Amino acid sequence: MLPIECILRDIHDEVFRQDDWGVPAQYIPELATVSPEQFAISVCLADGQCLTAGAVDKPFSIQSVSKVFALAATLGRIGDQLWSRVGREPSGTSFDSVVLLEREKGRPRNPFVNAGAIVTTDALLSGREPKQALAETLGLVRAMAETEDVFINANVAASEKATGARNKALAHYLQSHGNLQYDPDLTLGTYFHQCAIEMTTRQLALAGRSLARLEAAPSVISRAHARRINALMITCGHYDGSGEFAYQVGLPGKSGVGGGILVIAPRVASIAIWPPGLNHYGNSHAGTRAAAMLTQATGWSVF
Ligand code: DON
Repeated sequence: MLPIECILRDIHDEVFRQDDWGVPAQYIPELATVSPEQFAISVCLADGQCLTAGAVDKPFSIQSVSKVFALAATLGRIGDQLWSRVGREPSGTSFDSVVLLEREKGRPRNPFVNAGAIVTTDALLSGREPKQALAETLGLVRAMAETEDVFINANVAASEKATGARNKALAHYLQSHGNLQYDPDLTLGTYFHQCAIEMTTRQLALAGRSLARLEAAPSVISRAHARRINALMITCGHYDGSGEFAYQVGLPGKSGVGGGILVIAPRVASIAIWPPGLNHYGNSHAGTRAAAMLTQATGWSVF
């Protein structure tokens, strides 16, 4: 087996050789202008080493990867009460779909589709100002990554707010079924800011260590919550592309339309990958291939 550093360099070179990047998210104007030909991969191992290749210190918009952190914060705050409002089943639909919400009376399938993440953010808000709920999610991310150097990009949040008709529809639909405590604009404002957190792959891989339950990780998420978040990541983390991701990669993963993917190899490694172009599911195109190359080369699949 090649040392991990060589594997990462090979993956980096192969991604550039294939020159097949996908398209950055077009519906958020601030993300549409990001150049697709960029790549970074970071891997934190159980022994505390963090290995990297590519543009590993370049911050990118973590978007839906933030749903993992918001879920961890919400479970930490209200525990299983969340599940009276959100399910734990894959949806088989795109991340912003409204179809199942009508059939299932406003109870989203899982906390990673947009509707479920909006309800999760609404639950995290309970009795607090958006600023406090956001500070809790951001504080958790910083504690997990052991750095204060993680911020929200207000321009990206504003850009999404300006064009977020689909999420507004979802929030109003949830409200009509009594599954939103706050005004849709207030909950969505919080949700858009949470999605606009920026991190480098190095920081994101560091943040994933607690979910991978690596020895060197700060203990900020309980073992029970980490186990359950991983279960949701492998079944729902890539929306209607979750089955394909499990087939190709074989590990829990969470994607975002900024092109980032957090991948967890339980007890072995936390991995963050970022090329900004997306496939037709809205998941990172080259990032999914890179994750598959990594598990192929390392044998880290859980299967
Ligand atoms: O709500 C949205 O549409 C975005 N802020 C996040 C969606 C996302 O990242 C989907 N993941 N691949």
